[in-house]
Amino acid sequence: MKITQLTPTFGAQISNIDLSVPVTKELKEELNKLFAEHAVLVFPGQPLSPPQFIQAAEIFGVLMEQQIKKFTLPEYPIVGYNSTKDLPRVNGKLQVRGENYHTDHSNDLEPPMATSLVAVQIPSSGGDTQFVDTRKAFDDLDADLKETIIKLKSLHVHQSSRSPRSFAKLSNEEMAKIPQTLQPLVIEHPVNKRPALYLNTGRMEGIEGMEIEAAYSLIDKLYKHATQPKYEYRHKWQVGDLVIWDNRAVMHQANADYDPEEYRYLYRVMLKGNRLNSYRPAL
Ligand SMILES: [Fe+2]
Repeated sequence: MKITQLTPTFGAQISNIDLSVPVTKELKEELNKLFAEHAVLVFPGQPLSPPQFIQAAEIFGVLMEQQIKKFTLPEYPIVGYNSTKDLPRVNGKLQVRGENYHTDHSNDLEPPMATSLVAVQIPSSGGDTQFVDTRKAFDDLDADLKETIIKLKSLHVHQSSRSPRSFAKLSNEEMAKIPQTLQPLVIEHPVNKRPALYLNTGRMEGIEGMEIEAAYSLIDKLYKHATQPKYEYRHKWQVGDLVIWDNRAVMHQANADYDPEEYRYLYRVMLKGNRLNSYRPAL
């Protein structure tokens, strides 16, 4: 196994490994350690079938049911997909799910701890996925601001009244199951206890106990800070790349910047998570 760090603070590429077959207990432990540390793992050269992808993702946790059934594989409904044809074009322009930096299903009481994609078909250019390190972004804030925000919580809903993007339309049945949850603004990672900003401008409906304009101005300030290029890793996909990221340590975003005549198709799974804990600094 060869490990290559992707940025100074997060992300690692792991090669010389075959995820199409079960891994040993020792390797599984090592991969989980690497995952907690680096938050984004990239495994090139893993052109997995859906059952192989399920098995590979289970190295890191338990698979979670996909929320939007129309974007799932009929034979393997636990496996979703992202494709060029998911959303109708607007004025001829390609629309993709997951534009704008976010963390997945943040309105869930127990949001998915991780999300993973395997690239099946990719365009000749564009369609990258970007990640930002929300742990490092928190670490870099000044002490007073940290002190203020570690006490705050935000209500995460299906779609914020100030969302910069629209979400896929859900059926009434799906909508009825959609929760809204108060989440800490700063979460503590359950494995390494590192604090991270927990932001999702598409879903955050203000901040508990705070006047609305002040709340959104604080959210915008933190979001602008956390999405600076210095916190970013930009993944340029190759067919057969498996990428897994920790939703408690990074935000991610998709890009609708490729030629829609070129088809892009990736399998997607999510791993079950637990309730998020507020960061509690050691005294
Ligand atoms: Fe996403």
